[in-house]
Amino acid sequence: NVTIFVKSQQIKLQIDNLIYKEAYKMVYSQAKVIAGGLAHIPIVIAVFYFIMTFFNKRAIEYANAKKPKKVENKEIKAKSGSEIKTETKVEDEKPSSVSAETKTEVPIKLENTTIDKKIIKKKNADVPVNIYRPKTPYAGTVKENYSLLKEGAIGRVNHITFDLKESDPFLNYVEGQSIGIMPAGEDANGKPHKLRLYSIASTRHGDDFEGNTVSLCVRQLQYEKDGETINGVCSTYLCDIKPGDKVKITGPVGKEMLLPDDEDANIVMLATGTGIAPMRAYLRRMFEATEKGKNKWNFKGKAWLFMGAPKSANLLYEEDLQRYLTDYPDNFKYTKAISREQQNTKGGRMYIQDRVLESANELFNMIEDEKTHIYLCGLKGMEPGIDEAMTKAAEEKGLNWSDLRPQLKKAGRWHVETY
Ligand code: FAD
Ligand code: A2P
Repeated sequence: NVTIFVKSQQIKLQIDNLIYKEAYKMVYSQAKVIAGGLAHIPIVIAVFYFIMTFFNKRAIEYANAKKPKKVENKEIKAKSGSEIKTETKVEDEKPSSVSAETKTEVPIKLENTTIDKKIIKKKNADVPVNIYRPKTPYAGTVKENYSLLKEGAIGRVNHITFDLKESDPFLNYVEGQSIGIMPAGEDANGKPHKLRLYSIASTRHGDDFEGNTVSLCVRQLQYEKDGETINGVCSTYLCDIKPGDKVKITGPVGKEMLLPDDEDANIVMLATGTGIAPMRAYLRRMFEATEKGKNKWNFKGKAWLFMGAPKSANLLYEEDLQRYLTDYPDNFKYTKAISREQQNTKGGRMYIQDRVLESANELFNMIEDEKTHIYLCGLKGMEPGIDEAMTKAAEEKGLNWSDLRPQLKKAGRWHVETY
């Protein structure tokens, strides 16, 4: 019996061994199959990657071949006191698809906007920014500070010029940028005042065309609170400073309000109050004789300024603007909205958006031209009014402003700086 038992145990062990061996073999062969399958995944990914790269490359080549303009921009930065030269070559091809055939669809269609944006970004790469920062501002010397207002005007608006000659590195800038001003003194918590931004009102060559000053157009902020008149910290400081004073300057900053290089561009400007500052720089670049001699930018397009001011006595740089009208009647148009002297059709104050509506047809004829840029600067509060007017004006032309505005923005033709 013992022998039989031992034998049967041996047989059982042998059978168990056999079973284990078979199971092991099966698991091993399954694992081999799975590993083999997994090994194919990188190969499949690589094949897809090559296919996609190939088609992307082809798509970019195709889009580049269709883009409307080829812009080469080379900016030579200024050394102290020297000139900034902008060499620009614009090769124009026919506009891609600007048509106004039907009234039911949106007739203006701007193609290649991504490409246009890339071109704009590349073109603006040379624009100087943040040469001076709040921790290490430049102490500019006040050259002049005078009122821009006439007898009977409301408030206080000054033209202020700073000498930048001594700045090292040189604080150069281009039209449409802003600088920061750090007012002297401390805030209620004993900390230095924070900087405030101001649009630059001069061209890069400065008001005296020597290329080493910057000018601002500043309205003193004043409002009533609990029966008391509150004066804005920085705007009051700026309106009060005297020639010879030193002022902490930062910047320049901003690429939103830059002018196009195209000499045939049309420039529509919508300004309220000190929003005229960048527009003054543009108009000097276009129409001021000595400036033109320096910048070699032979503007041939149409510039149209819509200007909002409370009273005639508050109109800023009026003599210069009238001179440009006389000298360049075919290139400059100037439309005023004097809110407290003129009335809109509803009997309310005349604002620039009312003027936009009056000129809807002519304005939108210009906007349909892909060379037209629109610049909006001044009171933040005017934005909804301008949008409403543009919506109505667009409707009169069978256009949809909420579709069109983002297209203009993408194409780098809609520029807004409000505060
Ligand atoms: P603050 O002492 O800073 O007082 C402003 C504060 O007062 C507000 O924040 C608000 O809290 C309060 N306040 C204002 N009005 C009222 C009111 N009616 N009732 C109650 N509280 C109120 N300004 C120009 O004059 N010219 C320019 O060219 C110009 N360009 C600018 C460009 C950019 C890009 C920006 C962002 C702003 C620009 N400004 C310009 C505005 C400027 O930066 C300052 O904001 C302005 O001068 C006021 O600064 P402040 O120090 O005098 O006023
Ligand atoms: P108003 O103040 O009569 O209402 P300034 O900066 O010199 O005060 O000029 C700003 C101009 O913009 C004024 O004529 C002012 O009119 C006008 N304005 C005020 N609010 C708006 C608005 N929401 N849209 C357009 N213009 C405005």
